[in-house]
Amino acid sequence: MAEQKKLLEIKGLKQYFNEGKANEVKAVDNVSFDIFKGEVMGLVGESGCGKSTTGRTIIRLYDATGGEVLYDGVDVHGRKSKKQLKEFNRKMQMIFQDPYASLNPRLKIADVIAEGIDIHGLAKSKEDRMNQVYELLETVGLNREHANRYPHEFSGGQRQRIGIARALAVQPEFIIADEPISALDVSIQAQVVNLMKKLQKEKELTYLFIAHDLSMVKYISDRIGVMYFGKMVELAPADELYRNPFHPYTQSLLSAIPAPDPIAERTRRRKSYDPASHNYQDNESVEFREVTPGHFVLCSEREFKQYQVQSKH
Ligand SMILES: Nc1ncnc2c1ncn2[C@@H]1O[C@H](COP(=O)(O)OP(=O)(O)OP(=O)(O)O)[C@@H](O)[C@H]1O
Ligand SMILES: [Mg+2]
Repeated sequence: MAEQKKLLEIKGLKQYFNEGKANEVKAVDNVSFDIFKGEVMGLVGESGCGKSTTGRTIIRLYDATGGEVLYDGVDVHGRKSKKQLKEFNRKMQMIFQDPYASLNPRLKIADVIAEGIDIHGLAKSKEDRMNQVYELLETVGLNREHANRYPHEFSGGQRQRIGIARALAVQPEFIIADEPISALDVSIQAQVVNLMKKLQKEKELTYLFIAHDLSMVKYISDRIGVMYFGKMVELAPADELYRNPFHPYTQSLLSAIPAPDPIAERTRRRKSYDPASHNYQDNESVEFREVTPGHFVLCSEREFKQYQVQSKH
């Protein structure tokens, strides 16, 4: 794995919508994890579990209800000068799920991509600006002739490449990719993931890669966090999570992945998750505990001991 320097520390993060009202939603409920510099951290869980809200709160698109986000040791949500805020906005970029909705249809691709370059004054001249745009287009597998076209002239996969070029334009360190491939045809999903992985290595980027299911994140992620109803229920290195899933919700997600081998696929049993199965008692405290080094599970002391026994087999 990449060097273990913490780029982000997320501590007890909470994002409650309509707080105190009848329709309160605890979209993110006391979530804590670190993201190491140069790693790809995958975040998975079913629709509505709070993945996007976690990403958006980290990047400060929302004010947090509670908790802390430290970026290189600096509190992202704390008071900061305009200059510091601008610098955060440059270092942290987001790639969105819907490549159709996220590109301004009235702008030429050159201007879509150069928006951040302009905001942050990263071009020395008009010529330099265009050269940066051309280079970015080539970096994401498009070509310079595309610079003068409009978003509607591109396919979904090409638009997502443009979204990636736009994010890269400001030389970020950290990218949150919120289901960047879910809206794409299966046939081009792998291409876009491969491109993202290649860029991550070349540019030593750190990613928070959000996805619905575990099949694609396994391939790109160094570590994976699993969310369920606003909580992080399990976090482990990717291989470890696939080999030794402890939390029953993670097990149910894994059982949903089709097996590549037809014989194994025939015998695959889909497990369902019943939150009542934990049978938590009022006096039990349910916490995010480290069962084996680097492998965290949301569990009671009783479950923690069971998981530790299981880990030795
Ligand atoms: N702006 C908002 N106002 C009120 N509730 C919201 C808002 N945004 C999200 N929610 C609620 O917060 C919860 C988490 O939503 P979120 O979009 O983070 O889930 P998600 O895991 O990204 O789901 P998906 O996989 O469908 O994108 C959901 O119950 C959602 O309805
Ligand atoms: Mg989402």
